[in-house]
Amino acid sequence: MTKSFLDQVYAARGVDETRQIYDAWAASYEAEVAENGYATPGRCAVALAGVTKDLTAPVLDFGCGTGLSGLALKLAGFTAIDGVDLSAQMLAQAEKKNVYRKTQVVDGAYEVPHASYQTIAAIGVIGAGAAPISMLDRLMRALGSGGRLVFSFNDHTLADPIHEARINEWTDCGAARLLIRQRGDHLPKINMKSNIYILEKA
Ligand SMILES: C[S@@+](CC[C@H](N)C(=O)[O-])C[C@H]1O[C@@H](n2cnc3c(N)ncnc32)[C@H](O)[C@@H]1O
Repeated sequence: MTKSFLDQVYAARGVDETRQIYDAWAASYEAEVAENGYATPGRCAVALAGVTKDLTAPVLDFGCGTGLSGLALKLAGFTAIDGVDLSAQMLAQAEKKNVYRKTQVVDGAYEVPHASYQTIAAIGVIGAGAAPISMLDRLMRALGSGGRLVFSFNDHTLADPIHEARINEWTDCGAARLLIRQRGDHLPKINMKSNIYILEKA
C-alpha cells in the first residue's frame, strides 16, 4: 500500500527536504488532514482571539501552508492576515482562499523583520515534520514587547522534551509569559493530540 504523506512527514529533516515534501503534498494536504479531523488551527485561532483586544491588528501566519490556519484566524474574527511559507506549492493553494492580504515564499533563513507584527501564528509549524525548535526563538525575537506568538506542538513533537523546555527557557527568565497552554485534538481520527500555546513577550 502506498504510504500517505502523514505517514512520512514526521520523519522529514532539513529545510530542503521539508520544502520538497510539502511541495509534493500541496495538492492533497487538505483532503488528508480534513479526513483525520485536523483541529489545531481552529483551537489556536479561538484561543488567540480570546486574548486579543484589536482583531484588526495584523497577524502573520508563519508557515501558513495551504491557508487552513489563515481561514481559522479569519473565522475567529481576525481581519488583516498575511501568510508566509517555505513551500511555493502550499502557498499557491493558500492564495486561492482570499484570506490573506499578502503572501510570500520564504527560505529557511528568513527572519521576520523585528516588530513588524505584534501577533504571529505558527500553527503546525514547529517540531516534528516542519521547522526546528530554533524557529520558536526566531519568531519570539521578531516580536516587539507585548507581542504574542500562538503555536502548537503535536504529540510527535512533545515526545522530545527539548520542545517544551524551550518554552520554559523563555518564561523562567521572565523574557515571556505563558498565557495559554491547552491540550486537545490535533488529528482525532488517528488519535493524535496537540498542545497549543500563547507566549507573550515581556
Ligand atoms: C503541517 S503544515 C501547517 C500549515 C498550516 N499552518 C496549517 O495549519 O494547515 C507546516 C507548514 O510549515 C511550513 N514550513 C516548514 N518549515 C518552514 C520554515 N522554516 N519557514 C516557513 N515555513 C515552513 C511548511 O512548508 C508547511 O506548509
